[in-house]
Amino acid sequence: MSGSEFDVLVLGAGSGGYACALRAAQLGLSVGLVEQGKLGGTCLHEGCIPTKALLHAAEVADAARGAAAFGVNATLEGIDVAGVNAYKDGVVSRLFKGLTGLVRSRGITVLEGTGRLTGPREVTVTDADGASTVRSGAHVVLASGSQPRTLPGLEPDGERVLTSEHALRLERVPASVVVLGGGVIGCEFASVWRSFGAEVTIVEALPRLVAAEDEACSAVLQRTFKKRGITVRTEARFASVEHTSSGVAVTLESGDVLEAELLLVAVGRGPRTEGLGYEEQGVAMDRGFVLADELCRTNLEGVFAVGDIVPGLQLAHRGFAQGILVAEQIAGLAPQPIDEAGIPRVTYSHPEVASVGLTEAAAREQHGDGAVETLTYDLGGNGKSQILRTQGLVKLVRLADGPVVGVHLVGDRVGELIGEAQLIHGWEAHPDDVAPLVHAHPTQHEALGEAHLALAGKALHAHS
Ligand code: NAI
Repeated sequence: MSGSEFDVLVLGAGSGGYACALRAAQLGLSVGLVEQGKLGGTCLHEGCIPTKALLHAAEVADAARGAAAFGVNATLEGIDVAGVNAYKDGVVSRLFKGLTGLVRSRGITVLEGTGRLTGPREVTVTDADGASTVRSGAHVVLASGSQPRTLPGLEPDGERVLTSEHALRLERVPASVVVLGGGVIGCEFASVWRSFGAEVTIVEALPRLVAAEDEACSAVLQRTFKKRGITVRTEARFASVEHTSSGVAVTLESGDVLEAELLLVAVGRGPRTEGLGYEEQGVAMDRGFVLADELCRTNLEGVFAVGDIVPGLQLAHRGFAQGILVAEQIAGLAPQPIDEAGIPRVTYSHPEVASVGLTEAAAREQHGDGAVETLTYDLGGNGKSQILRTQGLVKLVRLADGPVVGVHLVGDRVGELIGEAQLIHGWEAHPDDVAPLVHAHPTQHEALGEAHLALAGKALHAHS
């Protein structure tokens, strides 16, 4: 494509970076992929995959503990953390092997080391021995990802004050944990540890858990967590932490002190951009994030940005889609910009929370109160949910006489329903379009069908 060594030089091999590399190679471009750690990045090694494995082990523990409710004689004798970790690490290593093989088979050149943007189309890669090599690409894709954020005066030490990355490597079930932050990471770890038998307290500054979700979902999650014995302290702010003989003492701004064996810090993730040369090369940035347009182009010609360094949802599947979008553009195709509002979100706690599109509050703000209708269908009316003994709801947000603009779900396994919900949202379906679709019985998908029937004025069963 030019005098550059590669057509595409990607800095970072996480979800955004490796998806870009794979698609670019598939489209016949030569690709250099710079990575300081392992191919797969946060999602595969320290995020989505290992945490979901832990959550599945937690579900198995809950099933054993609650077996009597189904007439099955079983007891939960305990959690073999080494066994759980071996299962989790096995999942990660199989996926890692698959990804490594795929990258190799596509002829992608993996450049091991830390990359730094040292020219508009140039990345200097420094390997573990300190040797540096300058690499060039006709196009450069910044995909350096994110890392756990913390608060002033709060330094995770990996022993008593943990980030999610430390928590994934923990070799025991703690007796008690304070989870700072009731967002996605906080709720998922709180859920796992509670299932494993720990005493868990969540401290959240905002008035509710998973505050980005619809209020109805937060309310069910919070209620169910309380029933599970998780203490939820909302509108509670962290002030300080001290080590005690048995763990930590966490002081809140209210003056309350919470003692526990561990403190998990889950107050968000920040972009990993510092010291990577982006600013020096003139890449437009805002508070550490790289600014990019809807086609993931930065202000520098030929330089793109994908994944968690770009403001927006910090989700692997968004990074993935952005990586593919960039590769296709570079290859001369004309891909459509990503519909950010149509990106599904799932919190894989027990119960799960899943959503796509606008919350009721956001819809009212964008379209005005009079233009928004909602319908809430209780999973109590859904046979499969009864069988699973899960409670929760489906909440639809639609524009008056218009399409469904938001679908919100809470309950065990509802994450698996989000695919249908996103089609409804993506195709701007009206309730009348969905109502005639026959849903398999008994499935939780039926709850989506029933909710749309109800919204179309054809409710068969109870709804509110
Ligand atoms: P988050 O932004 O979802 O939640 C952080 C929470 O910490 C917020 O609710 C915030 O109000 C609270 N907080 C901040 N400062 C506080 C203070 N001083 N005292 C008390 N509470 C305070 O961030 P989280 O959970 O760390 O996750 C980071 C990113 O990783 C998110 O963007 C998330 O989307 C992504 N992620 C996604 C997953 C999924 O899709 N299932 C799983 C895990 C992470």
